[in-house]
Amino acid sequence: MIGTGQRGRNMAIGTQLVAGNWKMNGLRRDGAELAHALKELVAAADGEVGCNILVCPPATLLSEVGAILAGSGIALGGQDCHPESKGAYTGDISAEMLADLGCEYVILGHSERRHGHGETDGVVRGKIAAAWRAGLAAILCVGETQGQRQAGEATEIVSAQLAGSIPDGATAASLVVAYEPVWAIGTGLTATAADVAAMHAAIRSSVPSGTRILYGGSVNSKNCHAILQLSDVDGALVGGASLNATDFWAIAQSYSVA
Ligand code: PGA
Repeated sequence: MIGTGQRGRNMAIGTQLVAGNWKMNGLRRDGAELAHALKELVAAADGEVGCNILVCPPATLLSEVGAILAGSGIALGGQDCHPESKGAYTGDISAEMLADLGCEYVILGHSERRHGHGETDGVVRGKIAAAWRAGLAAILCVGETQGQRQAGEATEIVSAQLAGSIPDGATAASLVVAYEPVWAIGTGLTATAADVAAMHAAIRSSVPSGTRILYGGSVNSKNCHAILQLSDVDGALVGGASLNATDFWAIAQSYSVA
């Protein structure tokens, strides 16, 4: 399995994944503090962790955070990559560079990149292929806007994103899907349990068997239990709440094996 096992010590490995997307947050000192705090919480749990834990810091922090987390059982991931392995692409980072820093995952197609950087499904597809070429698992983000949900188009939009973004040859080890309704990201709003369950079931029918399907959008230590216990929800992609070690750990502990 791709996940904590490759980096980690003797953790109980579940198939579920709780992933922290730090976005563009943290100077070196902040990243180091957060990584140390998480490492201590995991160590104190003494192996009783029922899910894979992943952090995706900004690129500037990957090296330092990776060094701190080495051997902790917490996996490292990037937030984006370029489709090409190298070349004249000022400001970009390749999947090979992420792998070289110890990353096992990369978040791709996040709505903040689709909307802020004009990323189309075709671009995302090229990036996922790049991730696989470099041996990374891709966390593909999909989700509808509020207007699309109100128009009754949510399932259709997400299905089109999946069809347009996933290259041939996907496997449960190389692909994770994160359903993140755009209107729920950073807003404090979450989709209803019924809507999450229905969307995850729809996604399940179009990805390889065993593919982990995460929910994302304002997941926090209070609402995580209700969301993570839904069928077809295999973990969470957490933004804001992942910047606080205690909150992020509380979310991961929804999968406590104790
Ligand atoms: P949020 O972000 O938890 O702050 O809503 C989630 C995400 O964008 O991945």
